Amino acid sequence: MTLVRNRRFAWGFSRLAVVRRGVLVRLVAVGLAAAAVAFAVAFFVPWLPKPASKQAERIDFVFWFVTGISIAIFALVVAVILYSVLRFRARPDDDSDGAPIHGNTTLEIAWTAVPAVLVTAVAVVSAVALAENGHVPKHHMRVNVLAQQFAWSFSYPKYEGLTVSQLRLPLGEAVQLKMRSKDVIHSFWVPEFGQKQDLVPGIETNVVITPNRLGTYPVVCTELCGEGHALMRSEAVVMKPAAFAAWVKAQEKAAASASQGAAGGGAGLAAFNSNGCSACHTFKPAGSTATTGPDLDNLSAYARRAGKPLAAFVRESIVDPNAYIEKGYQPNIMPSTFKSLPKQQLDALVQFLSGAKK
Ligand code: CUA
Repeated sequence: MTLVRNRRFAWGFSRLAVVRRGVLVRLVAVGLAAAAVAFAVAFFVPWLPKPASKQAERIDFVFWFVTGISIAIFALVVAVILYSVLRFRARPDDDSDGAPIHGNTTLEIAWTAVPAVLVTAVAVVSAVALAENGHVPKHHMRVNVLAQQFAWSFSYPKYEGLTVSQLRLPLGEAVQLKMRSKDVIHSFWVPEFGQKQDLVPGIETNVVITPNRLGTYPVVCTELCGEGHALMRSEAVVMKPAAFAAWVKAQEKAAASASQGAAGGGAGLAAFNSNGCSACHTFKPAGSTATTGPDLDNLSAYARRAGKPLAAFVRESIVDPNAYIEKGYQPNIMPSTFKSLPKQQLDALVQFLSGAKK
């Protein structure tokens, strides 16, 4: 029975070239309906975030190019299958054989050549988008990205190494992120920027972003890098160029006054920022407001609870973070890599953190 159906199907299919006009109209109608459904699923479900960079727009274009082709093929297949199933199905009392046929050369050439052309087109469009996204424009700003378990830090060589835990970018200016990892493999991902880039210990990777939409977007680590992986997040803020310039000025001013005012001086603050402390901790003298780890403005209280002198407690908490865990926080989230900090840096950091407190 199956054989009979298949043969009838094949026979009917081979005659598609000479289908009557009425049938053709129905085929097209079914195809358009299928295309409409597929398009609705592709278009009205927000599969991708709204692009916020030139690079993301190119990726979006590739997405729609491929999706458009897929919708057209889907519509064609649905139309032909539905038509064949309905038109050539065997009646319950029909046990006769289908007509013997011997393929259809024209159809076979068509269904080989057309996909070959389409796949080539997809490859070319993708390659062009990839090449353009990898291109570093002559005028661009450089930002150094440092990843470590489990924090991001961003520094701006153009502004004397200004280092912050939140990425800020001026609208419309190409930015090259030069990325390094201190420990394991991490991956930089801002969904709205459309690109992901691994940060691999020992090599420098990079990605170019030209933000073209104002807003605040999540920076996500998208490579499982340890227990705190899910917490390894930050934000990318795209600002108007004037606002960005004002922010840079304010940061530089804050850094200057902190290095004069706070104990530990500039060295402590520099160590605090360059080691990514500001990515996880709130600490007023450093102007950081992150909330992944305990608020360092309350260090004296933590030291009292831990029953240790402040400076000793601060040092221990840096080199052996699991020795005392503040209530409401979890062990193994704070990196244990800081025990290898150069002594000078560690001393400055301890002084900065404990000295700023009364
Ligand atoms: Cu870093 Cu996941």
